[in-house]
Amino acid sequence: MPDDIPLLQHWDEQPHVVASDPNDDWGWEKELGRSPPWREQLVAELDGRPIGFIQIIDPKHEDSHYWGCISEGHRAIDIWIGEADDLNRGYGTRMMQLAIERSFADPSVTAVLVDPLDCNTRAHKFYERLGFEYVVRRRFGEDCCSVYRLTRPD
Ligand SMILES: CC(C)(COP(=O)(O)OP(=O)(O)OC[C@H]1O[C@@H](n2cnc3c(N)ncnc32)[C@H](O)[C@@H]1OP(=O)(O)O)[C@@H](O)C(=O)NCCC(=O)NCCS
Repeated sequence: MPDDIPLLQHWDEQPHVVASDPNDDWGWEKELGRSPPWREQLVAELDGRPIGFIQIIDPKHEDSHYWGCISEGHRAIDIWIGEADDLNRGYGTRMMQLAIERSFADPSVTAVLVDPLDCNTRAHKFYERLGFEYVVRRRFGEDCCSVYRLTRPD
C-alpha cells in the first residue's frame, strides 16, 4: 500500500477530487504506514489498472472522532474516482455496491453513512440512486455537508 502514495497524491490534485474535498489532507505517508482495526483503505482496479479509492471506517472507533458521538453499528464511506476520464462510466456505482456489501457483511452493521459537501449535488444524486436517504445538514470542520444514510435492507 505505501507504493500507492504517488498515485493517491496525484489523484488528490485532480480538480474533481479537490472540488469534492477541498479542506482535507489525507496524510498518505503517515496513514498508509498504519492499519487501525476501524478502517479499510482500498484502491479499486479495473483489469489491474487502479481507477479509484474507497475508505470504509467504523465511525464509533475512528480515532479523531470525526463523526462525534455515534453509536455502534455504523460504517462511513469515502470514495473518489482518480482520473476525470474515468468518471461517469459506472465504476463509482460498482465500487459503492461492493463497499456496501462489504459493510453489511458484518451482521452488527445496521447503517452506512456518507457525507458529501452540500454543494456536491451530483454526489447527492449518486448516493440517492444507491438507496441512501438524506438525514441532516452538518458541519465537519470547515465543510458544510449533507449526511446520507443507507439502512440495512431486511
Ligand atoms: C461520485 C463518484 C465516486 C461517482 O463515480 P462515477 O463512476 O463517476 O459514477 P457513475 O458513473 O457510477 O454514476 C454517474 C453519477 O455520478 C455522479 N458524478 C459524476 N461525476 C461527478 C463529479 N465530478 N462529482 C460528483 N458526482 C459526480 C453523478 O450523479 C452521475 O450521474 P449524472 O451523470 O446523472 O449526474 C465520482 O463521480 C467522483 O469521484 N466524483 C468526485 C469525488 C466525489 O464527489 N466523491 C464523493 C464525495 S462524498
